[in-house]
Amino acid sequence: MIALEQLNGMSAREFAAALGAIFEHSPWVAERAAALRPFRSCLSLHKAMSEAVLQAEEALQLALIRAHPQLAGRAALRGELTPASRSEQQGAGLSALTQAQLLRLQSLNAQYADRFGLPFVLAVRGHTPESVIAALAERVTHAAHEERGVALREICRIAHFRLADLVHEPLGDAIIGMADDLAALSETSGALTCSYLTPTHRATAARIRDFMLAAGLAAHIDAVGNVVGVLEGGPRPKRVLTGSHYDTVIDAGKYDGRLGILLPIAVAGWLRRSGSSLPYTLEVIAFAEEEGVRFKSTFLGSRAVAGRFDPAALDSLDAGGTRLSDAIRAAGHDVAAIPAIARDPAQVACFLEVHIEQGPVLLHAALPVGVVTRIAGSVRSMVTIEGRSGHAGTVPMALRHDAAAAAAEMVLAVERRCREQAGLVGTVGRLEVPGGAINVIPGRCEFSIDIRSESDAVREAAAADVRAAIRDIAARRGVEVKEQRILQTASVPCAAGLQERWAASIERVTGGPALRLPSGAGHDAMMMASLTEVGMLFVRCGNGGISHHPDESLGAPDADIAARVFKDFLLHFEAPA
Ligand code: HGY
Ligand code: MN
Ligand code: MN
Repeated sequence: MIALEQLNGMSAREFAAALGAIFEHSPWVAERAAALRPFRSCLSLHKAMSEAVLQAEEALQLALIRAHPQLAGRAALRGELTPASRSEQQGAGLSALTQAQLLRLQSLNAQYADRFGLPFVLAVRGHTPESVIAALAERVTHAAHEERGVALREICRIAHFRLADLVHEPLGDAIIGMADDLAALSETSGALTCSYLTPTHRATAARIRDFMLAAGLAAHIDAVGNVVGVLEGGPRPKRVLTGSHYDTVIDAGKYDGRLGILLPIAVAGWLRRSGSSLPYTLEVIAFAEEEGVRFKSTFLGSRAVAGRFDPAALDSLDAGGTRLSDAIRAAGHDVAAIPAIARDPAQVACFLEVHIEQGPVLLHAALPVGVVTRIAGSVRSMVTIEGRSGHAGTVPMALRHDAAAAAAEMVLAVERRCREQAGLVGTVGRLEVPGGAINVIPGRCEFSIDIRSESDAVREAAAADVRAAIRDIAARRGVEVKEQRILQTASVPCAAGLQERWAASIERVTGGPALRLPSGAGHDAMMMASLTEVGMLFVRCGNGGISHHPDESLGAPDADIAARVFKDFLLHFEAPA
């Protein structure tokens, strides 16, 4: 292992020598990247090396591809592979093929070489002999120019995994580097939007899977798009689950949800590299959907894992009229395989979620981390008002049934009622006049309501009062109103025992107090609480604690402290037998 800061500090020649084996028999890549130092993270080093490859002249790219050995080919059989290639091919089971697999692979390799004049190159980490053969059988049908691009991308993936095995960096830098890397994948330019099962979302899932593979986890993507990484441990039969969501709101910050995925990946990689095995298996789950942006349903990923997936959600439609079940199939997943995602509660010790606070409490307390006591429940609905449309110039005010004016009064009613009690919040986040025009009286208006409180009684009473107020306003204004409930979650306590453990880890790692605070935001832990005990660690965020906004911020030092608290928690936790 070599430290990133050492690589940043050495001469260009030493740098090229240290990284000469990252790209097979091609030290020129490291030589070209040396001038771009210093690198803030291992991933930004990898990005620079990959760009050197993808921007290189064609002859050099072809030479790089040709420098790779065939899989289970002559060099392998003669024992002439580089140490890295040997370990990679062994790791994928290619040195223990059946006769049939060997013959199939050799035949496909020959077809591929005849067709492209190149060896078939694949990042085999996470593969099996069968999946290698399937990938080769599929790619041998590609057009030549397309296949060269795929081969170069696979070579860059191989380099990612080799760098992860060779270079180490502070956990905080690794976490921020991965968050920056994922934030480059967005549906909106200049900001981050990643909604359920869009091409951006699927590319993000593939990238998270690569982060898990680079950390040495076995990784797969399940039938709803959750990305699951497993760090085998034992002998305790019950496993610890941890994770959060990777979908985002529109124009989001980089850390909401994603911190709770990337931090455990970074810690799992540290545990594996340092040979610290855990007495239980750790599962890191990147939940595919929590925010409810594209389809009205929320927490789809954690519902599936907790065994609470509602099949009725499969019929929900997105704004373009795509059915959720069709989006799942279009992503290559099998709807029938969703029920099997549910975990057996008897095999789960607990669920841990690390999340940015998304508020100012830790910032004002000048503390990097805190223990979550309870997650506020919420009730969400969509309200549709049907008034009477008309000409903006000819209908006297007294004769109007203006849907938008009615909505405006209702929005103020939500605000007025939710101001009445501490800890109670009410938000109208969406307010639309479908097809509205400047010179037309709005005949229809739609808006959302989100009411939250740690107290179920307070929240339900407020929701009932708001419902009554909306009905009164509609009656007085002569408009029709329909309210569709889309989410109702009771507030969820975090297990006292897990709170104690978080507090002990915080005190051991930081020496400071373990502040306890409630969460006003909803989290996947709310769904997981029906499966097992849940515990949450909050991490300070900057810029006043802003979240669900591009200004959401997290410092590498705080990410590093949170990672060390999480590592301490895992190392002190004895999963129940
Ligand atoms: O809305 C929430 O509390 C979460 O960010 N989905
Ligand atoms: Mn969120
Ligand atoms: Mn979140």
